[in-house]
Amino acid sequence: MNQDLNRDHGVGVCSAVVGLQWGDEGKGKLVDRMASEHDAVVRYNGGANAGHSVVVGGERYALHLIPSGILSSQVKAVIGNGVVVDPEVLLREIEGLRARGVDTSNLIVSDRAHVVLQYHKDEDNLREALLTAGGGSGAIGTTKRGIGPAYADKVQRSAGVRVGDLLRPEILREKIERACTYKRAATAEICRELGVESPAFDPGPVFERAVVLGRELEPMIDDTVYLLNGMIGEGKSLLFEGANATLLDVDHGTYPFVTSSNSSALGIHAGSGVPARALSRVVGVLKAYSSRVGSGPMPTELGDATGERIRERGREYGTTTGRPRRVGWLDLVAARYAAMINGTTELAVTLLDVLAGFDELKVCIAYELDGGRTERFIPDGHVLAGARPIYETLSGFGDEISDCRGVDELPGAARAYVERIEAFVGVPVCSIGVGPERSQTIETSAGVVG
Ligand code: IMP
Repeated sequence: MNQDLNRDHGVGVCSAVVGLQWGDEGKGKLVDRMASEHDAVVRYNGGANAGHSVVVGGERYALHLIPSGILSSQVKAVIGNGVVVDPEVLLREIEGLRARGVDTSNLIVSDRAHVVLQYHKDEDNLREALLTAGGGSGAIGTTKRGIGPAYADKVQRSAGVRVGDLLRPEILREKIERACTYKRAATAEICRELGVESPAFDPGPVFERAVVLGRELEPMIDDTVYLLNGMIGEGKSLLFEGANATLLDVDHGTYPFVTSSNSSALGIHAGSGVPARALSRVVGVLKAYSSRVGSGPMPTELGDATGERIRERGREYGTTTGRPRRVGWLDLVAARYAAMINGTTELAVTLLDVLAGFDELKVCIAYELDGGRTERFIPDGHVLAGARPIYETLSGFGDEISDCRGVDELPGAARAYVERIEAFVGVPVCSIGVGPERSQTIETSAGVVG
């Protein structure tokens, strides 16, 4: 019998860490902790729009493109085909890490990942400006990192540049020239409307710079689909690191106020080339309250002093843009939906310490919409905007919990809060974050209740 046909490719050796809200759930810290138990950490979606802060030994690292696992030596850090790579940002990040003594030789970039170039960022800016112009309410509030235009070029197929193209000057030149022609045409009307001068969209300098960037990236470029499947075939384990989070998923989030990729766990397989049956563990990361950057509905948003206090205690300012994040009470309806579509096997509740000191805590358990009540999430930005949260009120916990290292050490009300999450979402909570340091985590083997 042909041994290759008999090989049991990819049965259950992979894990994923995915945000269950609108991003910034503290995934980076968790991935960083789990990285050492895996042979590779893999990004499968998004680009430099993501921001992960990880604190190790008192030093804060802000990563955008490089998988958080880079901080664990012996682990490969893989940027998969589903990512859109801004080579300028990537190289800056590599240099920054090297300058702080971090070994980056384990970084591998898919030759099929698409490249974000300056004209994508210019187009992102112009499209957002048009949506905002005249007080329009349609702006997405993108990170202006060129994410949407780069994915649009990929799907459009006529001028999308892949990482592998950076090493093939003839194809690269042709694609960049074509892209610049399209960009000029696509944005001419927008510029007229806005009364601004059109960016140059001059292919020459873009091409020359891209060749230089390609040369620098060359040692890291590989066919990551064969690489990852080969690792699985050898019994190695992979950890997929979701960027941007579930409620920003282009198909399943609050469209159109979403990012341009499948940022839930549903994007893992297309974005890495690893088959579905390889995934056995999906950790859903759930911040103890809600936050959101950019536009779009957030039913539990707090515009008052309570919200301000959560923002300050949680240091809720964007890693990528520095923008203050919108904050609110925990939305359990959204959490249960997100857990469902990700196939979440366990929950990691993060930033519980931020909620210390409130007399009472609220969690959203249903929405009121058009005079009725629903317990279903509404994955449409415009419809969800009309939903009002229906809250359940829980007791607050007065004491700081940052030094707690076991569930039994938590104040009763903090434990009850986590138990309510577990019961409502229907997935065990296996980790509780009580502070930014790696060590400030409570592990619970079979859930808090179980
Ligand atoms: P884009 O991904 O830059 O196109 O932005 C689309 C929307 O997703 C905006 O509301 C961004 O603020 C939001 N977004 C994208 N990536 C992240 C992230 O990693 N965390 C939080 N919000 C994000």
